Amino acid sequence: MTALPVSDTRGRSIRDLRISVTDRCNFRCVYCMPKEVVGPGYQFLPHAEILTFEQIVRLAKIFHGHGVQKIRLTGGEPLVRKDVEKLIAMLAAALPGVALTLTTNGSLLNAKAEALKAAGLTRITVSLDSLDDATFKAMNGAEFPVARVLEAIDAAAAAGLAPIKINAVVKRGVNDNQIVDMARYFKGSGNIVRFIEFMDVGTTNGWKMEHVVPSAEVVRAINEVFPCEPAHANYYGEVAKRWRYADGSGEFGVISSVTEAFCGSCTRARLSSDGMMYTCLFASKGYDLKSLLRGGKSDEEIRDAITSIWRSREDRYSEIRTTETARASKVEMSFIGG
Ligand code: GTP
Ligand code: 5AD
Ligand code: SF4
Ligand code: SF4
Repeated sequence: MTALPVSDTRGRSIRDLRISVTDRCNFRCVYCMPKEVVGPGYQFLPHAEILTFEQIVRLAKIFHGHGVQKIRLTGGEPLVRKDVEKLIAMLAAALPGVALTLTTNGSLLNAKAEALKAAGLTRITVSLDSLDDATFKAMNGAEFPVARVLEAIDAAAAAGLAPIKINAVVKRGVNDNQIVDMARYFKGSGNIVRFIEFMDVGTTNGWKMEHVVPSAEVVRAINEVFPCEPAHANYYGEVAKRWRYADGSGEFGVISSVTEAFCGSCTRARLSSDGMMYTCLFASKGYDLKSLLRGGKSDEEIRDAITSIWRSREDRYSEIRTTETARASKVEMSFIGG
């Protein structure tokens, strides 16, 4: 099957595909699945609704025909999906040359790092919001200790997945006092910490503008202690802005989706674990690809459906965010995977 890159209404193509493999997670991060909302009776997707590995690979191949160069597995927490390394091996075999990455909370990574690497994972990103145990436990809502995430990062590096990216969501008054300590810890380690502005994804995380620490403030705080200078993006549309330490000991990044939106170069398509395609992290509706798969449609028919969804794409949520849009109904981050 041949296909061509397709452009949306703003000239953006599809280069990254982010696949959520489960909506479940063993953490309850305050900014994503607050435990007051996602409690014991919470209804996750029933297993029958979740795409099989074969269906995921089939869709990934169709997206690849549209120019996808990088696939990121997300969740919820992707490592809670049983045998996820088998999916990675299947994707690696089906799509040689495509970068295969994964974003994890690190809790199950120590045991899985070698299997993930052996299966063909190219890189990994680990979320960690603080080096202070009490702060981290309060943020992850699961009493999970910092030390075990740090061990998992080391295990991933030992398995050959370095350099590892560390994602830290910064929330004002909660972990903004941790920024310089985080920078210090990862400086010189070969791994790269990125500070993310707290975003109004979904409707349940109680987002307020006052909670956002602008990336400019993050850079200022680090620069006072460790002088740094901006570095060029590694590739077109890179979400993180890179900052290099002047003493040559590596870099950190900032992701400023609130104060400096990057919708103009947004080449990301998202697939939820139940087979809905989303064209924006802040979308209120998705497009049902699973029905096409289960309804016996051919690859060409599914490809054409994706083409027409992408051609009509207008999304630029972060550029037009207001208090009203922040309150609007939107898909949850844990469902669409960040
Ligand atoms: P690499 O450069 O390959 O490491 O990937 P990446 O920079 O896309 O990193 P990652 O996928 O880990 O994204 C980091 C964080 O940036 C996510 O967890 C989100 O919080 C945020 N982010 C990623 N993509 C988008 C996007 O399309 N829109 C917005 N608003 N935020 C995004
Ligand atoms: N704002 C910013 N980043 C978020 N993430 C989850 N929720 C939010 C939010 N509200 C990030 C996590 C993780 C990735 C899956 O998404 O830190 O790195
Ligand atoms: Fe789980 Fe990641 Fe959401 Fe935290 S941010 S609750 S680890 S899916
Ligand atoms: Fe892309 Fe939507 Fe994020 Fe803008 S807000 S960068 S369009 S996902």
